Order: sequence, then C-alpha cells, then structure tokens
Amino acid sequence: FFVTLRMWRVVLKPLVLGGQYEYILVEKRGENKNVGFIQLNRPKALNALCDGLMKEVGQALDAFEVDKEVGAIVITGSDRAFAAGADIKEMQNRTFQECYGGNFLAHWNRVSTVRKPVIAAVNGFALGGGCELAMMCDIIYAGEKAQFGQPEILLGTIPGAGGTQRLTRAVGKSLAMEMVLTGDRISAQEAKQSGLVSKICPVDQLVSEAVKCGEKIASNSKLVSAMAKEAVNAAFELTLAEGNHLEKRLFHATFATNDRKEGMTAFVEKRKASFQDD
Ligand SMILES: *[C@@H]1O[C@H](CO)[C@@H](O)[C@H](O)[C@H]1NC(C)=O
Repeated sequence: FFVTLRMWRVVLKPLVLGGQYEYILVEKRGENKNVGFIQLNRPKALNALCDGLMKEVGQALDAFEVDKEVGAIVITGSDRAFAAGADIKEMQNRTFQECYGGNFLAHWNRVSTVRKPVIAAVNGFALGGGCELAMMCDIIYAGEKAQFGQPEILLGTIPGAGGTQRLTRAVGKSLAMEMVLTGDRISAQEAKQSGLVSKICPVDQLVSEAVKCGEKIASNSKLVSAMAKEAVNAAFELTLAEGNHLEKRLFHATFATNDRKEGMTAFVEKRKASFQDD
C-alpha cells in the first residue's frame, strides 16, 4: 500500500483540525473551502461559554487568520442555542481580586480583533455572553426562532464582554437600556427591526445562508476586505471627520494594490475580476 505525501495530507488534515479541540468543531466550508467554520459544541450546556471554549475559539480564529485560503469566517452554535451565556458555575465563587487580577474575560476580545470578516449565524438563544459574542462579529444572521438578551442583571451583575456598549450602538439607547435593565429578550424579528441582525433565515437554512455570505465575501480581495472592515469599524471609534479621513487614506491605499487595478480593469473589460489578494 503506497501512500503519497499528498494523500497523507488529505487523511491527516481533518484529524488535525478536528482533534485539536474539545468544545468546538472547526472546518472549512464553501465550494472553494474558503470559509472558515467554527461551531460551538457543548450541547448539554447549551454552549455555555466556558473559559476553555473561548480559548479554543481564539485558537481557531488565529489559525484561520493566517490561512491564505480563508476569506471569511462563520461562527455558529446549534439549532437550540448559539450560546446561552457565559459559564455561571465558573463564575459563582470568583472574587473581585481574581476577576480584576486575572483580567477576567479579556481574551474574549479576540473575536473582535480578527481582521478577516466574521459572520455570526445565530439559532436559538444568544444570551449574555452569547449575545456579546454574536455582537463581536461583523455580521449577524438570525434563525427565525433566535432570541437575544442580556440577562446579567437577573444574576446581580452586568454584561462584561461589550454587551452594554455594542448593543447600545446597534439598537439605540432605549431598547438597549430596557434589555440590560430588565433582562428581557428580543426575538429575531425585533432584532432585525432594530438593526442588530441583517437577515432572518429559516432555522434549517441559516448556516448555509451564512456560509453563502462568507463565500461572497471570500471571492473579493482579502486585502481590500480587511481595509473595508477596518474602515467600517472605525465608525465606532472615531469622530465623523476622523473617520472620513481614515476612510480616504484607506481608499487611496487600495490604489497601491494589484487587486484594485484588476477589479477596475475587469469592470471596464466587462469580465469577472480575478483577485489575487495582492
Ligand atoms: C461555591 O461555594 C459554595 C459554598 O459557598 C459551594 O457550595 C459551591 O459548590 C461552590 N461552587 C463551585 C462551582 O465551586
């Protein structure tokens, strides 16, 4: 029996990808396998976001970030729960000293610092840390039965992974205040109306729709996509004048890329552009 190096790679790759993780499933999806796919996989705990799970999400994102094939990333959970929250058992007896000293939850932020576009595909519960995790992503698609909420107040605490900040920017002050102060959830439909999510899909089509969106994004120049993402994200950090200034500089910078030349040349020649990510 003769196994070439190439065959070994095919045999070993899924093992390496899948075997490395305890709490998540990781693979590449899409026709061209250019969409990084992370599925949170703690079904018995409704994907409660324990420390180990979030560390693994960070590792998977690190791997996709440097993978030249991957042009977009999808994060999803199960049909029942995207993630029902942080792991409360892990927090029950934590002290302030431990939280502050260890900068508790700081590493969650990795999701929001990825340079490749990240899509959250939310079916079922996105509560507490689950809602915060979804909001760290660039685009949220929701299944028809999805529910979003920040119920921390009911446990005597407040959101600690961006919930009060990202929710307020997404849905406005009144609804964010209501959700954070009452712990009430909103439906997928309310989330769509308020601008928290960009699309609602039937439950069984959500993941494939999110992957399709990822494929669309991945078919563009990865270099220029990163610039576009950086520019949009700046809208949350900068004044309008500063943001417009940064946008103008990044726009000018696209003219230093071969992909910008190819894109415009293809347009003029009425053909599809072939981007090389340079
Ligand atoms: C937290 O402390 C209480 C006692 O105060 C104990 O009963 C409980 O098992 C502890 N929880 C964890 C997760 O260790």
